[in-house]
Amino acid sequence: MAAQGAAPSLKEVHERSIRERESFWAEQAQLIDWNEPFGQVLDYSRPPFARWFLGGRTNLCHNAVDRHLAARAHQPALIYESTEVDVSRVYTFAELHREVVRMAAVMRSLGVGRGDRVIVYMPMIPEAVFAMLACARIGAIHSVVFGGFASHSLASRIDDAEPALVVSADAGSRAGKVIEYKPLLDAALQLASRAPDKVLIVDRGLAPWERVAGRDEDYATLRERHLDEDVPIEWLESNEVSYTLYTSGTTGTPKGVQRDVGGHAVALAASMKYIFCGNAGETYFSTSDIGWVVGHSYIVYGPLIAGMATILYEGTPLRPDPGILWRLVEKHRVSVMFSAPTAIRVLKKQDPSWLAKYDLSSLRALFLAGEPLDEPTARWIAEAIGKPVIDNYWQTETGWPILTVAHGIEKTEPRFGSPGMAMYGYDLRLLDERTGEEVGNNEKGVVAMIPPLPPGCMQTVWRNDDRFVQTYFSTVPGRLAYSTFDWGIRDDDGYYFILGRTDDVINVAGHRLGTREIEETLSSHPAVAECAVVGVADSLKGQVATAFVVLKDPSKAADANARLALEGELMATVDKRLGAIGRPNRVHFVTMLPKTRSGKVLRRSIQALCERRDPGDLTTIEDPGALEQLRQALGAAA
Ligand code: PRX
Repeated sequence: MAAQGAAPSLKEVHERSIRERESFWAEQAQLIDWNEPFGQVLDYSRPPFARWFLGGRTNLCHNAVDRHLAARAHQPALIYESTEVDVSRVYTFAELHREVVRMAAVMRSLGVGRGDRVIVYMPMIPEAVFAMLACARIGAIHSVVFGGFASHSLASRIDDAEPALVVSADAGSRAGKVIEYKPLLDAALQLASRAPDKVLIVDRGLAPWERVAGRDEDYATLRERHLDEDVPIEWLESNEVSYTLYTSGTTGTPKGVQRDVGGHAVALAASMKYIFCGNAGETYFSTSDIGWVVGHSYIVYGPLIAGMATILYEGTPLRPDPGILWRLVEKHRVSVMFSAPTAIRVLKKQDPSWLAKYDLSSLRALFLAGEPLDEPTARWIAEAIGKPVIDNYWQTETGWPILTVAHGIEKTEPRFGSPGMAMYGYDLRLLDERTGEEVGNNEKGVVAMIPPLPPGCMQTVWRNDDRFVQTYFSTVPGRLAYSTFDWGIRDDDGYYFILGRTDDVINVAGHRLGTREIEETLSSHPAVAECAVVGVADSLKGQVATAFVVLKDPSKAADANARLALEGELMATVDKRLGAIGRPNRVHFVTMLPKTRSGKVLRRSIQALCERRDPGDLTTIEDPGALEQLRQALGAAA
């Protein structure tokens, strides 16, 4: 134990959080407001399902907004900066409160109540945040769908969530180009098997849109009608559902990651204190998007729960110039910043003087997550800004960091190449995938957690407890353990290193994609017989998707022009159905895929060949000619 008076080390805090799980989290629960106190801290009577803070009543919107009104009503809460439409607007906590209540009143007038789902398919505009917080206020369950997803992806999420309402906008804008949302939404609602009764459109005046009578409502009109209406907080039992967020895995169907209310709020409040070290009254800036888990946890809920102002940035890191992110840091005196390695690699290609132009003295640390942070990029940005750069590793499923350093507990040095050490609450192990036994230090294993998972982690897969257990808790033999599906290794000092996924998930510019989803999309094209998609290392985006396609009629790809045209068509199919983020960088045509004799596509060998590595053990291959074709296709493309 630590000497009396000395603060406990991270290792000690971690050990205590596992050994005295309930008292540890009961203490953290004091970081938020409860309308009624909880009784039991943890119910783990039905492993692996964990229920936290039973009987406690609270509300995320209250904790993020209302509770700050007494002390900081007139301080900034939501700072909207758009370099796309050239708008800069600050909402104080009082103003944010007003707008959230108005949105809540509009939702209620459209029949949305406690437990109903609301799909939020929106660009990075304040109304998107109002919509999320309004759902939280009235106990509706939001499901934000990333604006980069197209009609088919949106339709499958609508079918799974069965929303009472979809909130959307006429259009978004990316790098100066208007992206119409409404036609994509209309197409999705046509595809969906059970469309919602109501659609609420925030009209930004960016693109004309067609109103479907009786279904589509204009937000500005309804807001006017509910300007001064009061909508009280709906106090929810801690384990009610706050939101679902779809994420990709091994199958073609995304899973609805379901989160609770109380555990979620406590976990985020604790992470703001111990990991991000953000103080009330300061400004937080995350460059993520509300469509991803980082946007949920660290644009919307985390900073606001901590009483910080949060920046909602609609724009790219390069427009109007590569200094824009740092200009925003200076302008709003940002103290904590969160971004992704890809954004930094993009900036690294620009003139370094952009970094020196702005006063970054308010900034204490830059947090990076979502994909592996390579050492050259980490060193470059740490030197360029002269601030600690803190890698952190986690997942949509966990909602907050699994590995990082926690300077609110102990000032341990980050180590280049490692996202850090096990965070409090996670009973982290590296397990042998064949035996389920723990591997030793400096040995590779599957990064896994012994349940119960801590507060804030997913409760289950939306309406699919079996899938939750089957997907996450059934892959390690001989023991009940949550698999992250990442390989990892731990050094003698407890620092972990992430070595890549164990499944078919790829990571393109920090965006998590299932190769199966892309394959299913390509296969929907009438010319395609079968295909394989793999993630290939890329110096800028981390990974890119590369596709190998077998045509029903190979003569359709007989010459270079035909191949080019078909490649274009296939990419357009992905853009239209899945969204441009899933688009492969190349589509190669072959007449067969390398498969085992039992018919399994040898994706790892394909990936190895694409990365000019040894394709590994090929004794099970059915026809070695398939690999030769692949080599030739890649050689011709090189
Ligand atoms: O493979 C790991 C990678 O991204 C996956 C989770 O992605 P997502 O659900 O989108 O959540 C992102 C939340 C930050 C992980 O399973 N990953 C995430 N962070 C890191 C990472 N890989 C290496 N280093 C990281 N810091």
